[in-house]
Amino acid sequence: MTIPSRTWWKDGVVYQIYPASYNDSNGDGLGDIPGIVSKIDYIKSLGIDIVWLSPMYDSPQYDMGYDISNYEAVYAPYGTVADIEHLIEACHSRGMRLILDLVVNHTSDEHAWFKESRSSKTNPKRDWYIWRPAKYAADGTRMPPNNWRSFFSGSTWAWDEETQEYYLHLFATQQPDLNWENPETRRAIYDSAMEFWLKKGVDGFRVDTVNMYSKGNDLPDAPIIDRGIFEQPASGLFCNGPRMHEFLREMNTEVLSKYDAMTVGELPHTPDPAHVLRYVGSGDKQLDMVFQFDIVDLGIGKTHKYEYEGYKLSELKSVIAKWQTFIEDTDGWTTAFCENHDQGRSVSRFASDSPQYRERSAKMLALMMCALTGTLFIYQGQEIGMINAPKSWPIEEYKDIESINYYNSVAERTGNDPKAVGHVMKSIQILGRDHARLPMQWDDSPHAGFTTKKEGAWMRVHDDYPSINVAKQEHDPSSVLNFWRKALKIRKEYRDLFIHGAFEMYEPENEETFVFGKRYGGHRAVVVLNFTGSEQGFHRPEVGGKFELLVGNLEGVDGTEDVLKPWEGRIYLVN
Ligand code: GLC
Ligand code: CA
Repeated sequence: MTIPSRTWWKDGVVYQIYPASYNDSNGDGLGDIPGIVSKIDYIKSLGIDIVWLSPMYDSPQYDMGYDISNYEAVYAPYGTVADIEHLIEACHSRGMRLILDLVVNHTSDEHAWFKESRSSKTNPKRDWYIWRPAKYAADGTRMPPNNWRSFFSGSTWAWDEETQEYYLHLFATQQPDLNWENPETRRAIYDSAMEFWLKKGVDGFRVDTVNMYSKGNDLPDAPIIDRGIFEQPASGLFCNGPRMHEFLREMNTEVLSKYDAMTVGELPHTPDPAHVLRYVGSGDKQLDMVFQFDIVDLGIGKTHKYEYEGYKLSELKSVIAKWQTFIEDTDGWTTAFCENHDQGRSVSRFASDSPQYRERSAKMLALMMCALTGTLFIYQGQEIGMINAPKSWPIEEYKDIESINYYNSVAERTGNDPKAVGHVMKSIQILGRDHARLPMQWDDSPHAGFTTKKEGAWMRVHDDYPSINVAKQEHDPSSVLNFWRKALKIRKEYRDLFIHGAFEMYEPENEETFVFGKRYGGHRAVVVLNFTGSEQGFHRPEVGGKFELLVGNLEGVDGTEDVLKPWEGRIYLVN
């Protein structure tokens, strides 16, 4: 086994903050940077080493700040560049690092670069974005250059009246894709989006949609899999394009190599481990690690994400095993995560959010996550076991462009067919991106202590905040919050095993329990997790040695019995 090199970004635990929903310091109903700074000791107290801040740049907010109109400015309601400098200082003085979100596949259509680009066909920045002439059907109807479907429904092409061409947008119409083929564009991205912040002391980036920059020049039609509709899923054609690896190498040589900066790339639609390894092998400097999406894509629909189909525990286990083991005997590195700002809450998706079991099952998931190899990422609120929005909330309570656009497109396409629309609603209740964006639940005062604004937060606060909140859990030694603190301590105490160890799965077909082992040198741990609401027996894997209970999520259990209570989890050391 190759000895993994130890660096701060491997052993560090990352905490993701969504600025709109973390903490509102000035009572306008929206979270902000000073609000984050005021919670910095809380974040430190969890055992966090690295804070990842989702986009706080200037933006018209069609996609919650992933549509950036100026990389070098902060969205005024969130604060100022000076506030970010305070945040960097607040992190660094406590021994923590800060990474930002790097969103450079596209900008906002309000970015100065795009305004110039769209102003005329001869503007020097015309080629900074992806422009194409129309196609025409036999009857003369104007058609987009191809049939690609945008992530937010409809075509990836928007018609520009002024210059009579289409521009490409893989996401919202207001998010035109940058043209990475143009070296001048790439240089401008490096300077404005990266070096501007690295020079201020930022410690790296989570790199948004990292595999979509290179699209090739042909842009062919996608095969038809969703019949009866023109636009087709096309990620296979625009992800991992021909120059992708070259661009990332260049980004390293030109920018990142000058700083001790980490990168974690968002790598959707890349199921092949050999391909993922090309991005994260440390010998070929591209990215330090990536988020591979199999775990959070479990059960999503084949024709569209919000046509949820469900999944089996054996599938969850197999995707975890796949992305735990793919780096073994290589120089690559992996990540462990089950939540972020684009996902439903893990307790609701993978465990039980019933009042009876939500705390226990949240702790069980914490045990699982803390025992996984790779850099661990936790999303705000996960540490207190926040859950999905109540099922009673109508679509009007949802704000996210992705859910709303799809809901409306199905309603329109089917003439509001209750069955079709009902299925979409059910899917949104599980997978909707808004669940993670509900305001952080700090205490049981009005609006969960997130805001002092009388009318409440920008997005409705979860109805259950009086029972799930930080203040209540701070005082309760057996809370989810204090369990996470304990589990993170154990992860670091046994870092060889849990952060760097080799992963082994037992009984892959078992649909009730998840039993896996971790091994490092002569040391072993065995993790046993009950993923059901009833008692389950389990088999101790025959690994040789004595099983000693290290930690479990139930009090008064000595670990000698091979039976797990509903949603019980244990970690044994085997010596
Ligand atoms: C990434 C972000 C998501 C955003 C999209 C477009 O997937 O995580 O929130 O909508 O990129 O930038
Ligand atoms: Ca505010």
